[in-house]
Amino acid sequence: MKIREMQIDDLEQAISIEEELFSVPWTMNGLFSMLVREDALFLVAEDKDKIIGFCGAFMVMDQGDIVNVGVRPERQRQGVGRRLLQALIRRADEKGVTSLYLEVRASNRTAICLYEGLGFRQAGVRKGYYEEPREDGITMCRTAVDGH
Ligand SMILES: CC(C)(COP(=O)(O)OP(=O)(O)OC[C@H]1O[C@@H](n2cnc3c(N)ncnc32)[C@H](O)[C@@H]1OP(=O)(O)O)[C@@H](O)C(=O)NCCC(=O)NCCS
Repeated sequence: MKIREMQIDDLEQAISIEEELFSVPWTMNGLFSMLVREDALFLVAEDKDKIIGFCGAFMVMDQGDIVNVGVRPERQRQGVGRRLLQALIRRADEKGVTSLYLEVRASNRTAICLYEGLGFRQAGVRKGYYEEPREDGITMCRTAVDGH
């Protein structure tokens, strides 16, 4: 498996992962317009020419916002999500990003465990942030100091 930057050619497979995982998935146009932003960093995990997971963030100055992480259901629990995020964190470090933020559904214990293991800590709660179903969002933050 290798981790590399997402290309336009990967959009179709990334969207199929989105649709498998999320109740309100991104559209192809939506993901395209995020991918081409100057401040975007999207990574994919590729295995035997197939995209098995991806993650993405926007980074401005010393702050980054992780906007998505997803791994194909049949490839979960094999360390793919962790490797994607470790690569994202490393690249953020290189760009001088010292605080990384993300939002996660309060019920998503799996993702919360993964983020905590990588040095993210709960920073706040956004009441009713998510739809379908309506649910609170937990804001988590990782600072370079916490993570090292
Ligand atoms: C969250 C997600 C990206 C994790 O990816 P993954 O490749 O399965 O995770 P990894 O195998 O790298 O696991 C890393 C750690 O996460 C935690 N974790 C992963 N799956 C877990 C599970 N089913 N139950 C509890 N903890 C889990 C563990 O701490 C694990 O470390 P360990 O295997 O050493 O115990 C994946 O489950 C996913 O795509 N879920 C659906 C989409 C989603 O919820 N995305 C996050 C939106 S904010």
